[in-house]
Amino acid sequence: MDKRKISASMMCANFLDLRADLDAMAEHGVDYLHIDVMDGHYVPNFTLGVDFCRAVASHSGIPLDVHLMIENVDAYIPQFARFPGATVCIHPEVPYHPIRSLQLIRSLGARPGIALDPALLPERFRYLLPEVELICIMTVNPGYSGQQLIPQTLDKIAETAAMIRREGQNIELEVDGNVSWENIPRMAAAGADVMVAGTSSLFDGKADLGANIRRMRGLMA
Ligand code: DX5
Ligand code: ZN
Repeated sequence: MDKRKISASMMCANFLDLRADLDAMAEHGVDYLHIDVMDGHYVPNFTLGVDFCRAVASHSGIPLDVHLMIENVDAYIPQFARFPGATVCIHPEVPYHPIRSLQLIRSLGARPGIALDPALLPERFRYLLPEVELICIMTVNPGYSGQQLIPQTLDKIAETAAMIRREGQNIELEVDGNVSWENIPRMAAAGADVMVAGTSSLFDGKADLGANIRRMRGLMA
């Protein structure tokens, strides 16, 4: 069974016609809505927040895949973990006690995840594996859409996939950043299960969302 999934990067959606984008994603079977939350401290940018999540969740049943690129995660986790079926990802080098943060996410009914900056060694987070349901490998520097792949992260996808297998854990492996038509087959071959689709694929503006979703599925198989 192919468990490969598409997580649509909502910071790249059409904010002036979000309803149409959400409807097309539901019609064509997008699996998650990737919500990038930035605070201008952990990353130099600002993007989406709780109100955006609330608006999207009120219209769409597609589960949220919340990516917290913020400091002080424990203070904000409760606001994001409340959305039904949500995954909430933290950058585990941020809190002093990441297991506590991941336990907090789970205790509030959401799926805990970790997102790894391109510079970080996956093995460093081995003891977090029993606490998480998703690992997001960042393949660009956190903070902006439209960047180029950091090539050494392809090896890291494979290394993380091997670590998950070795530890015998059932964890989804996500890739985030420059998930392009060219890079999707390489990322899939390296072991990625979930593709965060932004300006490099789903929202490339060259075809409608339905056609781009079909094209992605073809490349992920
Ligand atoms: C950051 C974001 C971006 C972006 C992905 O966490 O998730 O990486 O939206 O889309 P691209 O890189 O294709 O613009
Ligand atoms: Zn992201």
